[in-house]
Amino acid sequence: MTVLQNQEWRYATKLFDPSKKISDIDLATIKEVLRLSASSYGLQLYKILIIQNQELREELKKFSWNQNQITDASHLIVFCNYTTVTDQDIDQYIGLKEVMTQASKNDLVQYGDFIKSKIKEKSKSEIAHWTALQTYIVLSNLLNVCADLKIDACPIEGFVSEKYNEILKLTEKGLSTAVIATIGYRSDQDQTQFTPKTRKPADKLFETL
Ligand SMILES: Cc1cc2nc3c(=O)[nH]c(=O)nc-3n(C[C@H](O)[C@H](O)[C@H](O)COP(=O)(O)O)c2cc1C
Repeated sequence: MTVLQNQEWRYATKLFDPSKKISDIDLATIKEVLRLSASSYGLQLYKILIIQNQELREELKKFSWNQNQITDASHLIVFCNYTTVTDQDIDQYIGLKEVMTQASKNDLVQYGDFIKSKIKEKSKSEIAHWTALQTYIVLSNLLNVCADLKIDACPIEGFVSEKYNEILKLTEKGLSTAVIATIGYRSDQDQTQFTPKTRKPADKLFETL
């Protein structure tokens, strides 16, 4: 199928078939695509939880508008952003870049100092907002790779972040839940798959200057 056909095929799945599970090989491809996602400066200031545990998902469902996708999909993906960024985080990234790229130490130190100075311009809440925004890029890649693999997905903002943070013990790790998604296979009974997409016409969405 073409890129466009894949996008037409995908939809935010409401009813998953609980008996169908994503294979290890597809899951490995999905993880690698998410790992390769672009992020601001390349810092990857997030963590991605892949939750299969059914008991945990039952508990999380209570704080997710009771949406069936949380428990019925093959996997629940939780995108968490780091709420603070320290100089050590930047040093760690620069250290990794040094190993991966063999770039000159001097250039990398300068780049690291530049990143540190730009981040220091942001307030605490701006930093948390900025790192949360990064997770949406990864979410978008998740939707696209799933469409390519003919795996269904539902992006979800209908959940209580504070409750997720508490249940998944994220706050003590400096993390917060930004957005979640479920992935798996659609149920034949999901009527949404037969509903045409509601989208603005291109002339209302785009402006060419
Ligand atoms: C960030 C985000 C959050 C969303 N949250 C929910 C949600 O909590 N529950 C749900 O059923 N759909 C959710 N959706 C799905 C949208 O309603 C859906 O993508 C939109 O209506 C377009 O339809 P389509 O994706 O099926 O083409 C969300 C989508 C995005 C991108």
